[in-house]
Amino acid sequence: MPKPIHCIVAVAPDGAIGAGGRLAWDIPEDTRYFHSLTEGGVMIEGPLCYKELGKPLPARGTVVIARAGQGEFPGAAVVANMSEAIAVAQSMPWPGPIWITGGERIYAEGLPLCERLYITRVGMEIKGDRFFPKNWEEAFPTVISQRFSRQGDTMLSFEVRTR
Ligand SMILES: NC(=O)c1ccc[n+]([C@@H]2O[C@H](COP(=O)([O-])OP(=O)(O)OC[C@H]3O[C@@H](n4cnc5c(N)ncnc54)[C@H](OP(=O)(O)O)[C@@H]3O)[C@@H](O)[C@H]2O)c1
Repeated sequence: MPKPIHCIVAVAPDGAIGAGGRLAWDIPEDTRYFHSLTEGGVMIEGPLCYKELGKPLPARGTVVIARAGQGEFPGAAVVANMSEAIAVAQSMPWPGPIWITGGERIYAEGLPLCERLYITRVGMEIKGDRFFPKNWEEAFPTVISQRFSRQGDTMLSFEVRTR
């Protein structure tokens, strides 16, 4: 059975996902959610996301899509494009889903391949420089589950959506 392909992301109200190579927020509840969902599966990410985390997260596979000369990614499989990334992730022994985990272009290329979207709406206006694809609500209209939370004054909505 092929692994299902899912996407996981946290977005600001205007679709921003980060600024200056980093997340624009520190939300431990969302970080724990990300870590626990992706554990046991395979993450597909870009080189700057790998560098932001500093290493592969434990107890899961990591595939980095990078061009030649974009650096070293110890502990990750390195491939040249999304279709190779999916093939390598499918061949890994981790039993969980494949997770498209960013950044901007990885989301743009990976989202059309996903059957589920795990999206955290973060009620914080930021000056972002990387964005999630704009059409995600139309592409994933069905809400499987939604849970509200907050961190201080920041409202959070954890949504699982499907096509
Ligand atoms: N909020 C969230 O859930 C979330 C999740 C992940 C990341 N982020 C944020 O997003 C930002 C990082 O994302 P990013 O888009 O800047 O970085 P990234 O996707 O990690 O890496 C971008 C690099 O990947 C290369 N690349 C992308 N697609 C490629 C492909 N198909 N083939 C070959 N190379 C490819 C690009 O090379 P070229 O420039 O040569 O095209 C570019 O240098 C940070 O701010 C991070 O915090 C947020």
